[in-house]
Amino acid sequence: MRILVTGGAGFIGSNFVRYVYKERPDWHITVIDKLTYAGNLKNLDGLDESRVNFIKGDICDEPAIEQAVADSDTVVHFAAETHVDNSIQGPWPFVETNVIGTYRVLEAVRKSDKRLHHISTDEVYGDLGLDSSEKFSEKSPYDPRSPYSSTKAGSDHLVRAWGHTYGVKATISNCSNNYGPYQHIEKVIPRNITNILTGIKPKLYGEGKNRRDWIHAEDHSSAVLAILENGKLGETYMIGADGEKDNKQLIQTILELMGKDPNDFEFVKDRPGHDLRYAIDAAKLRTELGWAPKYTDFREGLKQTIQWYTDNQDWWQPQKDETEAKYKELGR
Ligand code: NAD
Ligand code: DAU
Repeated sequence: MRILVTGGAGFIGSNFVRYVYKERPDWHITVIDKLTYAGNLKNLDGLDESRVNFIKGDICDEPAIEQAVADSDTVVHFAAETHVDNSIQGPWPFVETNVIGTYRVLEAVRKSDKRLHHISTDEVYGDLGLDSSEKFSEKSPYDPRSPYSSTKAGSDHLVRAWGHTYGVKATISNCSNNYGPYQHIEKVIPRNITNILTGIKPKLYGEGKNRRDWIHAEDHSSAVLAILENGKLGETYMIGADGEKDNKQLIQTILELMGKDPNDFEFVKDRPGHDLRYAIDAAKLRTELGWAPKYTDFREGLKQTIQWYTDNQDWWQPQKDETEAKYKELGR
């Protein structure tokens, strides 16, 4: 099996590459990644070059993606612009990579008749009420609210249309918030772990009441592999591990696990259009494909993640000042 992973030098993509490398020793993996500010070749350090090869390339570049797809048997498409705050400041890269890039990937798999798994997000369904117990399922209506989520929704629609019209062999998954090693320090968990490690107070947007449903990136990876191998073509699968927390609980747990006063954080300006709550019902994935997460104890997963950022300061230090300077401009 020759698998092509777009965006495989990013956070979840590299966790997926490492997972497949370990679980499918006879597979050959090719990563195509543009290495934007969010991609880092170090995320693939230590992998044997005879089993993993890297192409520095843009999924929007038609000949480059066509060739990479033609040289593989199956494609898992992670490449995207992913940070909501960035999408509010400058939406164009999101339209370009998430919509046009996905179009290029689809045309390439159509041309060489390859299997595609498209990675999407729960944010395409909008948000849920803070007091409701409702969860997103495969039947939830699309209702994206940020430039980021609207471009991811657009990419999902393209994938379904290419399946329906041209018979492209595709599956889609919509996952909740991931955490774990190799996540860029702009995102809430690594940002605030590295804030504490550098003597900056953790930052909570608004009143800290917004809720997210956390899943470890390794569990996301095992779910994607299960769908790739046993999912039904044309189907969508929700991925989530029942890890719902509000942001204040999250920051206080990080502070506590790092031996700090749980109230030593500060509230900052809220994100415009901030989605209130996401929660996933992954019953279809669990029952039809027999998937179950390994990281069922969030505190334990968080503890390991804190340890990873503590042990790998060389990995994130070069980006810390620039990341915080960007936030300072936004008042966050
Ligand atoms: P990330 O920002 O850490 O990594 C994205 C990767 O894509 C980077 O390596 C970047 O260099 C690469 N990339 C960007 N534009 C590219 C282009 N035009 N051509 C080639 N490569 C390009 O993102 P992530 O958090 O790992 O997310 C990966 C995927 O998972 C995305 O599709 C995202 O929408 C989805 N997702 C993320 C989460 C989450 O919590 N992070 C949850 C659900 C779904
Ligand atoms: O739900 C899946 C999505 O999760 C993915 O599709 C996105 O790619 C990913 O970035 C993530 O989006 P969020 O907007 O939920 O993630 P972020 O880490 O930016 O913020 C998580 C929550 O924490 C959100 O409610 C905003 C808040 N926040 C964020 C930062 C950076 C804070 O309170 N403080 C912070 O410092």
